Amino acid sequence: MGSFTVSSILLLFLFSSVVVTSFPLSTNSRWIVDDRGQRVKLACVNWASHMEPVLAEGLSKQPMDTIAKRIVSMGFNCVRFTWPLYLITNDSLASLTVRQSFQRLHLLESIAGIEANNPSIIDVSLIKAFQTVVSSLGENKVMVILDNHISKPGWCCSNLDDNGFFGDKYFDPDLWITGLTRMATLFNGVTNVVGMSLRNEPRGPKQNVNDWYKYMPIAAEAVHKANPNVLVILSGLSFDRDLSFIQDQGVKLTFSGKLVYEAHWYGFSDGQTTWLDDNPNEVCGRVATYMIRTSGYLVDQGYPLFIGEFGIDQSGSNVNGNRYMSCFLGVAAELDLDWALWTLVGSYYTRAGVVGLNEHYGAMDYNWCGARNSSFIQRISSLQSPFRGPGLSEVKPHKVIYHPLTGLCITRKSLAQPLRLGPCTDSYPWNYSPQKNLVVQGTRFCLQTDASGTSVKLGILCTDSNSKWEMISDSKMHLSAKLRDGKSICLDVASDNTIIANRCKCISKDKTCDPSSQWFKLVDSTRSSTRVQRSLSQPLPGKGLVPNHLIG
Ligand SMILES: *[C@@H]1O[C@H](CO)[C@@H](O)[C@H](O)[C@H]1NC(C)=O
Ligand SMILES: *[C@@H]1O[C@H](CO)[C@@H](O)[C@H](O)[C@H]1NC(C)=O
Repeated sequence: MGSFTVSSILLLFLFSSVVVTSFPLSTNSRWIVDDRGQRVKLACVNWASHMEPVLAEGLSKQPMDTIAKRIVSMGFNCVRFTWPLYLITNDSLASLTVRQSFQRLHLLESIAGIEANNPSIIDVSLIKAFQTVVSSLGENKVMVILDNHISKPGWCCSNLDDNGFFGDKYFDPDLWITGLTRMATLFNGVTNVVGMSLRNEPRGPKQNVNDWYKYMPIAAEAVHKANPNVLVILSGLSFDRDLSFIQDQGVKLTFSGKLVYEAHWYGFSDGQTTWLDDNPNEVCGRVATYMIRTSGYLVDQGYPLFIGEFGIDQSGSNVNGNRYMSCFLGVAAELDLDWALWTLVGSYYTRAGVVGLNEHYGAMDYNWCGARNSSFIQRISSLQSPFRGPGLSEVKPHKVIYHPLTGLCITRKSLAQPLRLGPCTDSYPWNYSPQKNLVVQGTRFCLQTDASGTSVKLGILCTDSNSKWEMISDSKMHLSAKLRDGKSICLDVASDNTIIANRCKCISKDKTCDPSSQWFKLVDSTRSSTRVQRSLSQPLPGKGLVPNHLIG
């Protein structure tokens, strides 16, 4: 009895030491790691608090603790929490109470909502309310990245909003450094504040590399001095699309292990209709190459890269965005990047003069009751946990075959069933051999195809062209083999999610054609898949014979 108690306490201790992140975070080459050196993957969602009322959105709809719990239940471990510079540099703004702030904007309905849902903050100052939200996230074990989104409270960003770059009407570099220092100081000792993103989307007519190097390092040093615990996150030029200049000249800092770069990537980043004007497979090749050249390359140079914003209209009605999303998810999975979805916000108190504007990019629905589109959250969920990184080598390195359109990976429910898409946590571990075979790790079974329109299967004769798979086409996301008659064929997904092979589609030219059912990525992983380990170690029936259910 006594020893039972002791061992269960020990178990409890071991368990909690596995799941709890120990702060502060730092960097180890391209990875963000915790105090024990184990990778922490930032899977954040943006929560706006930089708009005219200068209060975290949604607090008129739901209690902040409820919202924090929904963030957790949607699988996010972190919030990129936006703030306007003037919240901390303009005392008369910071000291307005929440009620006063909404009164001056005539948002009386919101006041009633906040009184009902978050009565404890209605008569506290805006800066105190901001701190209270951070605490509430902390109580729910949600990490926070403080993002200086803009100077003057309001919707961001345009080239001509005078908040874009050093020297703009609302962007005085000295005031900015003062504000960052105050913010870093205010949150020194608040352990769930793990990072500060120093300025969102530098942009506009004044932007230039020289001034970027002039001010960013000074600000980084000031933040680090005021709060050595936070990761210091630096954004690139042109709305955070361009960090190519780092290749020529690294940022020189007196401290190490805290620097992270940030980039943003939307479907409209390369033009509003890029994905409609050309063949999406060619666009993905072109745009992903641009992303690697301007920011993705940084991970190979030993820096963490945080995609601080990405997202789509979650109703699915924007085709341009839908096409981009599959391409984006492929890159984000392959590089196993840290990221923040735009946005949590289901609706704004007010935006662009519209009271209660519905946010179609929002993870929450209009009333902040639940997920706007749970299938979208499901789709990104496989990227919410790390595929690899320090301290996570649970099993031998292998590949998972990731399908961005669904966010699922190739596996199967049982040995008797055909290969199909399933949660990436249940993925088969694949080895990709120099002979281009895709072999289930620990077995002799390789992926092969016999005919167009039929299920692919696992076989043991792996030397023919029908079991040699290459990543082809501009996107490099078509996984292609050749039938015995020499015809190329591509991996595809049937409507019941079983894996089939079909004629390769939408490779080039046709802009009406959507290739994404045939888009896959081979993603490096050391994630264990307990269910598959179990199914592969099941004793095989018919000792000495080739087990039919493994082949078929
Ligand atoms: C400071 O904030 C107050 C209240 O919002 C505003 O009236 C004033 O113009 C602001 N001052 C500056 C310099 O931005
Ligand atoms: C969720 O997203 C999917 C895929 O884009 C779309 O087909 C569906 O209609 C969306 N659901 C809602 C409720 O918006």
